[in-house]
Amino acid sequence: MENSLALQPCRLSPELLQGPLPFDLYSSNGILLSKQGSRLNSNVETLLAKSFFRAQRDAERDEAGALPLLQTLFSRYGELTERWSCTIEDVCELKLLADDLAELCDAHSDVCVCMAPYLAGGSYATRHSFAVAIVALMLGSTLGWNAGRQVTLVRAAMTMNLSLLSNHDDWAGIRGRLSEYQQMSVHRHPCLSADLLAQSPGTDLRWISAVEQHHENLDGSGYPLALKGEEIIPEARVLRVADTWCAMALHPSGRGRKPPRLALREMMDVARGHLDHTVFLALKKLMGAYPPGTLIRLANRETALVHRWVSAVSAPRAVLSIISPTGELMRKFRHRNTTQFGFRVRDYAQLNLLQMSRLPWQRVWAQDDDEKA
Ligand SMILES: [Fe+2]
Repeated sequence: MENSLALQPCRLSPELLQGPLPFDLYSSNGILLSKQGSRLNSNVETLLAKSFFRAQRDAERDEAGALPLLQTLFSRYGELTERWSCTIEDVCELKLLADDLAELCDAHSDVCVCMAPYLAGGSYATRHSFAVAIVALMLGSTLGWNAGRQVTLVRAAMTMNLSLLSNHDDWAGIRGRLSEYQQMSVHRHPCLSADLLAQSPGTDLRWISAVEQHHENLDGSGYPLALKGEEIIPEARVLRVADTWCAMALHPSGRGRKPPRLALREMMDVARGHLDHTVFLALKKLMGAYPPGTLIRLANRETALVHRWVSAVSAPRAVLSIISPTGELMRKFRHRNTTQFGFRVRDYAQLNLLQMSRLPWQRVWAQDDDEKA
């Protein structure tokens, strides 16, 4: 057992199980279960249902390809939801997408969480649902759910607003109150989206129920059915927490986006009684105050990006400076150690959405190893 080894969850797909393992496989407590190059002989169904881990250093080796792959998945998702016509082909494509996203997220969850709000193309609404799918998947993993349940979360998040996606961006731009028709559509969208799924061959009851209940609150104050407590299935509770956090901390429109620490505090205060407390605690543990994608101001006035997971209770130690003290994009991004006096974390920082969208993100994930601090 290697005590100092940084591990991250990994998913064993059926394809992966057909050949020799491409990486060492560990248990959650760091015990080496199987060496790279060996084959797993146990029952495939049993293996697919279990949680496994791989060394983070192995995952980082193929990190540069993660962002283009995530972008491709998002483009496929946008096209699919735009043409959704309740066919078995639509459902098969959605399932494939959910599996691909889960696999990518297992290997490169930091890239996925960091980049979810800034993916090119699509609408704000599709970007939000895609981000919720990533966060819900990670919550499922943090809660110790098996791979099958985690994938149900991804499928449900991707389709929870299916009936609204074509209108969502137009309505989000409206100042003032929505019309009565618009309010009714918003109120009914969990049921309407669930109806669309029920008409689509290949979906299942758990998936559909999660969509139907994704705006229900534990105290009965949610909609459309005002369900309470145990009447709400666990998958819907996870979606509710992920949806709320993404709307606060990760919102792709950038409007009203809150620093992660404040988002957690508001969720604790405002949504007390609404949200499942166990799921909320899992979110708090997972994201903390500095999830990947957080911008911070350093003591030397540089703006830096948190691009790796850090412990929920501490400030990030290794960050990537991207904006100079004079406000210009740095020609070469610099890894900074925040325990050094000049690079201490001062506060959260913000760039507007346009600035963020135009950042050369690929450079963040393609740093040379010898550049790292
Ligand atoms: Fe919704």
